Amino acid sequence: MKQLYGVIGNPIGHSLSPLMHNDAFTHLEIDAHYHAFLVQESELGEAVTGLKALGVVGFNVTTPHKVSIMQHLDEIDPLAEKIGAVNTVLHKEGKLIGYNTDGIGYVRSLQSISKEPLTNKRILLLGAGGACRAIYYSLADAGVKEIDIANRTVEKAEQLIAGCESEVVSLALSIEEAIDKQALYDIIIHTTTVGMHPHVEDTPLRIRDLKKGSIVSDIIYNPFETKLLQDAKAHGAIVQNGIDMFVFQGALAFEIWTGRLPNIERMKQIVMKKLGG
Ligand code: ATR
Repeated sequence: MKQLYGVIGNPIGHSLSPLMHNDAFTHLEIDAHYHAFLVQESELGEAVTGLKALGVVGFNVTTPHKVSIMQHLDEIDPLAEKIGAVNTVLHKEGKLIGYNTDGIGYVRSLQSISKEPLTNKRILLLGAGGACRAIYYSLADAGVKEIDIANRTVEKAEQLIAGCESEVVSLALSIEEAIDKQALYDIIIHTTTVGMHPHVEDTPLRIRDLKKGSIVSDIIYNPFETKLLQDAKAHGAIVQNGIDMFVFQGALAFEIWTGRLPNIERMKQIVMKKLGG
């Protein structure tokens, strides 16, 4: 019988996950279907019970359910617990187990473009919301030792740092301080929505003088190249947009569900094609 997978969220109509996962199932000859389900916040509990009763093998969870899903699960992976959000659920032996693949997926995507190990890199994170939290805790969990966080509201960066139990050394910075210190970092990661379509002229950080050979990574993929990435490229940086993060989080979820590694490059091509790249 065909196995059922899916994603729950609201809105969900534009999700690229069904396209990406269904192609991977076909390519690996797994008899399965991945469906996008629109789920209202007030109906999350019923939706999860329903999916479980229908025998779903696994599902993704997206906005606005990544935190509230946790109360409906039987077990939560320690890193997802630390991050405080779940984006992937595995239904195994009658139990629903929650994982967070956003953060580790992001770390893997960054590792895929960095020629050297990330552990000794000095990293600057821009933002202090949910996406930043997943990335910060996952980088710290992966052994990165120095990660500063700059945010419009500095207190939120301070709170993120205070809540991280890893041995990472971190400073909370204002955006102005981050502009002044930008040349100190090997990697700069942007995690807010500043510069996203339609506000494509906005940028979270004025680029002045980047460190030679540095990487600037933006989790936005609409547009493909944000103003931040354009400026960073003009200053000689290696740049990466958010498609890699999206693909790697999906690939890791696929691996958790099926035990098999999908073809990352193929997933990326499919997503890029759909987005018109
Ligand atoms: P997500 O879960 O997608 O990360 P979020 O939790 O709402 O979203 O966090 C949004 C992040 O974008 C925050 O870091 C926010 O800064 P504040 O903490 O100061 O609110 C940042 N952000 C959103 N709009 C911004 C803007 N116009 N300028 C600067 N930062 C902005």
